[in-house]
Amino acid sequence: MIIVNSILDLRTAISAWKQSGLSVALVPTMGNLHAGHLKLVNSAKQKADKVVVSIFVNPTQFGVNEDFSSYPRTEQEDQLKLATENADLLFLPAITDIYSANTLTAVNVTGLSDIYCGASRPGHFSGVATIVCKLFNLVQPDIAVFGLKDFQQFTVIKTMVRDLNIPIELIGVDTQREENGLAMSSRNNYLTDLERQLAPQLYQALGIAQSAILVGQHSYADIEQQVLQTLKNAGFIPDYFAICCSHDLSPATKQDKDIVILAAAKLGTTRLIDNIYFSL
Ligand code: PAF
Repeated sequence: MIIVNSILDLRTAISAWKQSGLSVALVPTMGNLHAGHLKLVNSAKQKADKVVVSIFVNPTQFGVNEDFSSYPRTEQEDQLKLATENADLLFLPAITDIYSANTLTAVNVTGLSDIYCGASRPGHFSGVATIVCKLFNLVQPDIAVFGLKDFQQFTVIKTMVRDLNIPIELIGVDTQREENGLAMSSRNNYLTDLERQLAPQLYQALGIAQSAILVGQHSYADIEQQVLQTLKNAGFIPDYFAICCSHDLSPATKQDKDIVILAAAKLGTTRLIDNIYFSL
């Protein structure tokens, strides 16, 4: 696996591949890699000749009181895992290579960025869209692979790609879960032992809501309220629990066939998100 820090080295390696007619997939990450990330690398390997993984803890997607400085950075372990997974190139840029002091431009997918996670994390999705757009321009991959645990993030990126005519095929990969159902996330590291035992109930709550929809319970608003109460009783501080149309994340109506249920809740100081998607 080639490891590059500079944009020049990145471009040199990729243009050599492209000149040889090889296709390139990009897996953008913030590091602290777990089995969910490795599944993304694996999917990328199946779709393209060469797989580029970026590790960049992107400051612009963290709010002022969020965990940018304490976000787990595990570079050595990450490199070993990626080499074992046969990634072809690891791009590890410095912040100053990505953001110059006089940066004036950002990408904003309006509306979609202001609901659900965007409502409690102002600026987050603009930071995500901007860094992903920059990584797309730097790597110019044929394919880019993202995890669907961050379903809203995937929808924001899909919308950006559509609106800006970015010629990249997006692949969304199903969430990797612990045996108890908990969605794998770098932030699970913050959970105490007790919280870890409670955490799978977020996914269980999504399953309860899905079952209620599948058996034909009529009011989606009622299902949302019931499950929010269940989460509160279990010790979560829910942020939102929303039954949506999976194409544009608008509140689902009876006419919608493709559904995603989005959930975010805090356990202690850790904010967990998860979702479940299905067709009726
Ligand atoms: O999902 C992530 O890890 C990040 O939001 C991403 C897509 C790498 C952008 O920094």
